[in-house]
Amino acid sequence: MTDPTTVHDVVGDDFFVELVRRFYAGVAEDPVLVPLYPDDLSESIRTLTGFLIQYWGGSTAYSEERGHPRLRMRHAPFVIGPAERDAWFRHMVGSLSMLCAERDIDVQIEQQMRQYFEMAAESMRNA
Ligand code: HEM
Repeated sequence: MTDPTTVHDVVGDDFFVELVRRFYAGVAEDPVLVPLYPDDLSESIRTLTGFLIQYWGGSTAYSEERGHPRLRMRHAPFVIGPAERDAWFRHMVGSLSMLCAERDIDVQIEQQMRQYFEMAAESMRNA
């Protein structure tokens, strides 16, 4: 038997909604990242939220709508070098640690998400 508890079971949909809302609030103010993103961030917010809910064990609505994530391919149109990767990761991890502190999330769960974001941000680098 495998442990049926996922990160999503522990933190819930709302955690990812709030994480991504805060993350994009930071992106919208960041001169390195703003040029890469559309002016209207509402679709970006919606897709990243859906992706993370799915990735961490919640609803699979993201793939029902968008198919296989193929994240490297979907990021290929954007030039992502070390500066873009670092800016992305800094906003994500800043939002993550504040939210985890506010909600008293277990440090191992926070660490697990942080390691994923670090690994995945580097794997999106294409320049
Ligand atoms: C942990 C690493 C990352 C994850 C999980 C992630 C996830 C995503 C997802 C799910 C989408 C929407 C894909 C779709 O169309 O369904 C997306 C789009 C995008 N990502 Fe990332 N991403 C990551 C890293 C980065 C990095 C390092 C950059 C560089 C700045 C970046 C820039 C963008 C841009 C410009 C878009 C297109 C705008 C949008 O539709 O949101 N991403 N990303």
